[in-house]
Amino acid sequence: MINDLWYKNAIIYCLSVSTFMDANGDGIGDFRGLMNRLDYLQGFGITAIWLMPFQPSPYRDDGYDIADYYGVDPRYGSLGDFVEFTHGCEQRGIRVIIDLVVNHTSDQHPWFKEACSDPHSKYRNWYVWSKKRPRTANDGVVFPGVQKSTWDYQKRAHAWYFHRFYKFQPDLNTSNPEVQAEILKIMGFWIQLGVSGFRMDAVPFVIATKGPDVNVPKEQYDMLRMFREFLSWREGDAIILAEANVLPKTDLEYLGQSGERLQMMFNFAVNQRLFLALATGDGGPLIKALKETKLSDTTTQWGLFLRNHDELDLGRLTSQQRKAVFAAFAPDVDMQLYDRGIRRRLAPMLQGDRRRLELAYSLMLGLPGTPVLRYGDEIGMGDNLRLPERNSVRTPMQWSTEPHGGFTESDKPILPVISGGPYGFEHVNVAAQRTDPYSLMNWMERMIRMRKEAPEIGWGEFSILPTHTREVLAIRYDWRRNSVLVVHNLSAIPRDVSFSVGTEHSRSLVNLLTGERCDADEFGKHKLILEPYAYRWFRVGGLDYILKRSQI
Ligand code: NOJ
Repeated sequence: MINDLWYKNAIIYCLSVSTFMDANGDGIGDFRGLMNRLDYLQGFGITAIWLMPFQPSPYRDDGYDIADYYGVDPRYGSLGDFVEFTHGCEQRGIRVIIDLVVNHTSDQHPWFKEACSDPHSKYRNWYVWSKKRPRTANDGVVFPGVQKSTWDYQKRAHAWYFHRFYKFQPDLNTSNPEVQAEILKIMGFWIQLGVSGFRMDAVPFVIATKGPDVNVPKEQYDMLRMFREFLSWREGDAIILAEANVLPKTDLEYLGQSGERLQMMFNFAVNQRLFLALATGDGGPLIKALKETKLSDTTTQWGLFLRNHDELDLGRLTSQQRKAVFAAFAPDVDMQLYDRGIRRRLAPMLQGDRRRLELAYSLMLGLPGTPVLRYGDEIGMGDNLRLPERNSVRTPMQWSTEPHGGFTESDKPILPVISGGPYGFEHVNVAAQRTDPYSLMNWMERMIRMRKEAPEIGWGEFSILPTHTREVLAIRYDWRRNSVLVVHNLSAIPRDVSFSVGTEHSRSLVNLLTGERCDADEFGKHKLILEPYAYRWFRVGGLDYILKRSQI
């Protein structure tokens, strides 16, 4: 059955073991702590966990600097704990995907150390070298303001090495067949331990040609097919979710013309226009991005997200659009990062305004793709701008009013838990929100349930309905003779709209949250009065969900 494609209608929850829950009291989150929270996650309704890097690492880039691909950092537990964790997830019907960070290693990885100390080592050619300082050494830095160059001198190697990211992350020579074979081996290893796939880090850089003479890197897309095929042979339903912030016209190079490359990609184009829409109330650019990124192959899927562990990257907006988003959500220079992004969590960006938060999450759940939530979003966690760079949005999970938010019993948490003020753990925590029927968390749990009951969104074909109002976005999803309609008022001003739903059985709409009916007028039009930032989810056709589904 085509329904077997689990990622088409999943709810993905992303978390970092280090900051989620500490069970052994050393101040650092661990697998045992995470396992104690699996029932919480299952109850909340998520169906997949994306684990950020947990392998041994000097931890200079939040674990994205790996020193051993086949292990678990002892601070988090052991490989045995990892398998207990994947087993615990399996028992609860939760899939696990993990980060696959193979564009670069840590400079502390034994491969790099050996490559530096022994020019005849086989690992020498696993990295990218130059005898002289390349002319392009100052080009293409990913973290402007913090990272100075993409080439640095390595004394022991007597040569320059290439690093797309920070200086302590030497790039792997991914064109080398031995490196490619090792990447497959890494995938095979974790698949065997129970994961259902990978969030592949920095994919455009993984597949780019690298070297001192490469002025314009060329993508080697065939590599993606190789990764995909290997994975499918090992585990039929395993997937790769690509981090690739590329232009829409390039998307199919990553997914394949008929879905033969990677199954999923994050939709950065929609992400940036979604924030533009939230900032300006104008849905025009968002609609354009939705149309430009419309997928035709049913086996591929977008990862739809609001915030993640990085800065909110606005690099693909025009400078005027970016200014508008900065003005609305990051007016202080300290809230901005790398000349292109915002280092804040969603709740403070939206000034804790519940109406706007609900609008944003309703959009995330109601736009085409599979939603990817970030830990702490469900309770509206804040940020800590005193922490450097992206650490501002990586503070520990706030579980209760106990010291350090119940994250740890240690007095030295890995990062300080946000305390005091409107977003402090004393005020924003899971325990308090569980018992409050009106809390953001309980609202989101209901929304997730509703989203799961509307598989049309993950699976179906979407159409944007003309509302004749740039501030109101109406999308209809059709799948297997069922339709769902989601309507959002992006603006602070109430709007009334009249539109035609446009399907055969569209006279009646049933509100999926309230059960209320909304019937068409004699001209077949539906009229809606939308409060500021309102959202409505309807099943089209007037029958309720259960009746409708039993016809499938
Ligand atoms: C993308 C990750 O999301 C980011 O956190 C990391 O710094 C870079 N890739 C380098 O691995």
